[in-house]
Amino acid sequence: MKSFLNVPVIVYFISLMGFVKQASSILCYDCNSLFDPRCGTPFDPFSLGVVNCSLRDAPDHLPDALPALCRTMKMDIYGKVRIVRGCGYITDPASDDQPCQRKANSDQLFITYCSCTTDLCNNARAIQGSALAAIVVGLTLILAR
Ligand SMILES: *[C@@H]1O[C@H](CO)[C@@H](O)[C@H](O)[C@H]1NC(C)=O
Repeated sequence: MKSFLNVPVIVYFISLMGFVKQASSILCYDCNSLFDPRCGTPFDPFSLGVVNCSLRDAPDHLPDALPALCRTMKMDIYGKVRIVRGCGYITDPASDDQPCQRKANSDQLFITYCSCTTDLCNNARAIQGSALAAIVVGLTLILAR
């Protein structure tokens, strides 16, 4: 028993508790640009819904999952852009807090997905890269006239 009570083990458990506590009380923006244009670009967070993800029910297919992320998903379907922000449950160290990823890609369908692990991180910054791309595309179209 004594060997369980050494300092590194205690430090480990304290840091683990800290992590779990932090991960289970993340705040995220929760909105859909289809219903509220302020959710899109330009992102206007002033009066948008902020949710404490731990007060939300976990999704049906992940009943035991704890919220640990905020997500931003940008869907561009036949040129119609919709941005959805909300809580996330499945962590992936390879992509969380990394630049947004283009998850699906065909001629007419683009989905850009980002996940991040700090309170209210699914803000405008999350899709800056794709906003920049949109500006470049827009300028190209204007200049091509
Ligand atoms: C979110 O809700 C949980 C559970 O009630 C609470 O422990 C936590 O402090 C809340 N987080 C914030 C930032 O309000």
